[in-house]
Amino acid sequence: MKINLSNIKNAQKFLNKNECVAIPTETVYGLAGNAYSNQACKKIFMLKNRPKSNPLIVHYYDANSLGKDCVTNKNFQKLYKKFCPGPISFILKLNKESKISKIVTNNKKTVAVRFPKHPVTRNLLKILKYPLAAPSANPSSKISAVSLSDVKEDFGKRIKYILDGGKSTIGVESTIIDLRDKPKILRLGGLEISKIEKVLNSKIKIDNNPLRTSAPGQLKLHYSPGIPLRLNVKKAKNDEAFLLIKKIKKNKPNYFFLSKKGSLKEATKNLYSILRKIKKKKYKSIAVEKIPNKGLGKTINDRLIRASRF
Ligand code: TXA
Ligand code: MG
Repeated sequence: MKINLSNIKNAQKFLNKNECVAIPTETVYGLAGNAYSNQACKKIFMLKNRPKSNPLIVHYYDANSLGKDCVTNKNFQKLYKKFCPGPISFILKLNKESKISKIVTNNKKTVAVRFPKHPVTRNLLKILKYPLAAPSANPSSKISAVSLSDVKEDFGKRIKYILDGGKSTIGVESTIIDLRDKPKILRLGGLEISKIEKVLNSKIKIDNNPLRTSAPGQLKLHYSPGIPLRLNVKKAKNDEAFLLIKKIKKNKPNYFFLSKKGSLKEATKNLYSILRKIKKKKYKSIAVEKIPNKGLGKTINDRLIRASRF
């Protein structure tokens, strides 16, 4: 990806004025604002129509730039060393001297931090004097954006500036791990749990019950394409979009393939854009073939289950 410095400077200009800017990350696009500014953070919630109670992830260039914002620990060091920058977010204790706006954390004593890998956003973070609070750049409860045109489609002129970074290479949100105590996964995401378990050398509990709102804002309805979606379907109806994990010889206009050969990585990357495509084609419902429930397939299934609660 070629880095366009004048675009990055433009984004910086808006952010310095407490405006919101959409930024590319390797997982999904974010709707970013100065995490130290109440004014900027209020705008993020307004634009997304996001409940105040759902805290934001704060994005940093590297661990050195965390300053006194949060309290790190051994498990953090281990995971940071292995996976950052990358598709993982850490829940840590907020430091008393933290400069993060209380609007970001909804007055909680914890904060989610992440170090995105996308080179455009890394260049931006490097020149800013503050970290970026950024939820996914989509209206609350809808499908996340994985390209500039997705963000445009959702927000039009309501966002002052969109920084282009091409299509997100991972395609689903970061994995969230709570590291304050015994590590636990709060959201399945772009980094497989087995890889995290290997580094921490222990089995990790998954605690992503969507009904418990004290756990991260995994609202019950999420990632919704806005039309009904049914899972584990063997045979779709003719007027239904049929989402399949891999390309098959028999193709029909209503068939949509997540990958060529059944690669879960490729399927993850394509998931959100294909759901958007189906919606644009005006299908009234979506049937999904059974997706293998292993590795990134678990993340795909998590998103599809939430999307199916229409
Ligand atoms: O990949 C990603 O993580 C993307 C990109 C833009 O970085 N961001 C993203 O943000 O997915 P968002 O706002 O859509 O999801 C953030 C999740 C929410 O479920 C929120 O409740 C949870 O993180 N979260 C944030 N702060 C938290 C905290 N202090 N404790 C528990 N959960 C937290
Ligand atoms: Mg989101």
